[in-house]
Amino acid sequence: MKNVIAIDGPGGAGKSTIAKLLAKKINYLHLDTGAMYRAVTWAALKKNIDFKDEEKIIKIAEKSKIIFDQQGNIFLNGKNISQEIRNNKVNQYVSQVAAIKGVRDLLVEKQQDIAKKNKVVMDGRDITTVVLPKAEYKFYLTASLAERAKRRYQQEKVKNKNADLKQIKASIARRDKLDKEREHSPLKKAEDARLIDTTNLSIEQVMSKMIEIIEGEI
Ligand code: C5P
Repeated sequence: MKNVIAIDGPGGAGKSTIAKLLAKKINYLHLDTGAMYRAVTWAALKKNIDFKDEEKIIKIAEKSKIIFDQQGNIFLNGKNISQEIRNNKVNQYVSQVAAIKGVRDLLVEKQQDIAKKNKVVMDGRDITTVVLPKAEYKFYLTASLAERAKRRYQQEKVKNKNADLKQIKASIARRDKLDKEREHSPLKKAEDARLIDTTNLSIEQVMSKMIEIIEGEI
């Protein structure tokens, strides 16, 4: 599938940051699919839904009109929720919501439709395996848990002076486990995806590795 770059990996591996920069550099659209699962989770929290009630969560996903603007802000039914979807409550429940097949089916359809109509860099957990297995370029970005926690802590500290590294590490580890062990579309490396371990690499180094691979072709 031409004009499509798919990136998967666990939280904190640098996927979204890199995908955004890469998309800008090659003039592609960036789609952060994690933000879509976060948006549905935020809507469910707003409505005080019991997270065990899968039918209700699917209904919420059906009613969720999710739009991104040029800057990557995310709007749910017209409201900009770019900040809200990063809060702790959303972190806590998003993997539960993302494990529901009915929710995934709805969001995957939207993601595939966007890839049909645009040149896109898409990042998530199942992009190389399920959403766009025929993408022209496929990458799996990872890093050690300690490094991923440190990165998230540094981002979080700017907004919240009480940010706690230990807590962040535990929350990432919990999501890793849920995402890797779920029944539908678990996080795993596609056999033909290029593995990049970003633990000891700067953003620029990861970018140039990826550009090297796709260079000359775009
Ligand atoms: O990438 P981010 O950390 O924002 O993703 C939040 C959560 O959304 C992940 O932990 C995962 O449960 C879910 N997700 C998913 N499939 C994707 C993208 C994200 O299941 N393609």
